[in-house]
Amino acid sequence: MKITITGTGYVGLVTGVCLSDVDHQITCYDIDQEKINLLNSGKSPIYEPGLDELIQKNISAGRLSFTADVKEAYSDADCIFIAVGTPPNEDGSANLTYIEKAAIEIAEHITKDCIVVTKSTVPVGTNEYIGRIIAERVPAGLTVKIVSNPEFLREGSAIHDTFHGDRIVIGSNDQEAGKVIADIYAPFKLPIVHTDIRSAEMIKYASNSFLALKISFINEIANLCEKVGGNIEHVAAGVGLDKRIGSKFLQAGIGFGGSCFPKDINALNHLANEYDYDFKILKSVIDVNRLQKERLFYKAKEAVGSLAGKKITILGLTFKPNTDDIRDAASLKLIQDLLMEDAVITVYDPVGMPNVEKLFGNKLQYAESAEKALEDAEATFILTEWDEIKNLSLEQVKRYMTKPILFDGRNCFTLEDAEKQGIQYYSIGRKAIV
Ligand code: UDX
Repeated sequence: MKITITGTGYVGLVTGVCLSDVDHQITCYDIDQEKINLLNSGKSPIYEPGLDELIQKNISAGRLSFTADVKEAYSDADCIFIAVGTPPNEDGSANLTYIEKAAIEIAEHITKDCIVVTKSTVPVGTNEYIGRIIAERVPAGLTVKIVSNPEFLREGSAIHDTFHGDRIVIGSNDQEAGKVIADIYAPFKLPIVHTDIRSAEMIKYASNSFLALKISFINEIANLCEKVGGNIEHVAAGVGLDKRIGSKFLQAGIGFGGSCFPKDINALNHLANEYDYDFKILKSVIDVNRLQKERLFYKAKEAVGSLAGKKITILGLTFKPNTDDIRDAASLKLIQDLLMEDAVITVYDPVGMPNVEKLFGNKLQYAESAEKALEDAEATFILTEWDEIKNLSLEQVKRYMTKPILFDGRNCFTLEDAEKQGIQYYSIGRKAIV
């Protein structure tokens, strides 16, 4: 079978590379020639642990190729996975421009019957729309079947998640097409859920929204712990041991970011509005997350007073560790708030700094190490729990800083340690050490 993957972002690239690794013949197609050149030289345009090695291995084995040529991508294709972006519109709805473009190109360039599989996260009803776009344009005599196959991988552990995911969802109104896609995934040996197309589309939004809800919920319990006395780490451990709840996604912090949760819950809320349904819980999840991102800033204002002219350090800029992605990261909001206060800001992140520099340029100082960033700081914020940052010793932190005041949005250190080192330590859902 010739399998083509359209779009070499996180989802498309990782899916294509992993499918080639289980012996499928994969062509990855993207309109960005520069990206394709980089990929053909064996390098990933995104930072994802283990991806470069897997790309090189499968190019060498002759199972994986990259092209920006639409004809090469689609002629003779038996199966085409669409994995282009669906970025948010200003009103929160999903922008389907790239999906529409992909569907038109597919219809105009396929040369035999094929199955089109949508991996991009798309609102309920979109696969049927894709089917209509293609059906209107495809040459007479060719049949195209549509399958919805949402993706659940996480940035930073995308390869592991693809090989060891919890399930593969295949939504199809045509049993035969669903079976072909299930066979493609068979080597992964993962549970497969077969559904109709609309349910598959909904599974993706429901899953991401539920996970986001878990985070907002534990963040609110954390905020309450700070008021009533209690330690969120202990509370989350005690709650998470209940198997009905589960311990994952109960890490309180400065709110969720990234390219998926914020976008997808807004899109689901928008969809609900369109159908005249008031999705109350979802609106609260969005609201709680917005407020959570501001919490550390207000704690700092309360503890330090005016931040004007103060040397402030931020450790960790990406929305989570092991990625260079800063989309909707808490750091962006904090930097804006601190700049408004005229603070003097130094930042450090193991891989996220070039992306932040593109946005803020010389308004910030960029340190070459966490230690350098801490030098002479009057207050430090921790926003991403990179190992490198978690493994700093508080004794070191204290030595570098002018005033050892730490605002830790990821609860990287124990209260006992902070107390022992005489550090003023504010974290999430735990008592302040002052
Ligand atoms: C998420 C989903 O997990 C994945 O299934 C989907 O395909 C895409 O969206 P991702 O955005 O890569 O993946 O990251 P994830 O690990 O889920 O974290 C998202 C955000 O939630 C991060 O900002 C993270 O710091 C935050 N988070 C996560 C918490 O604050 N607490 C937690 O307990 C878990």
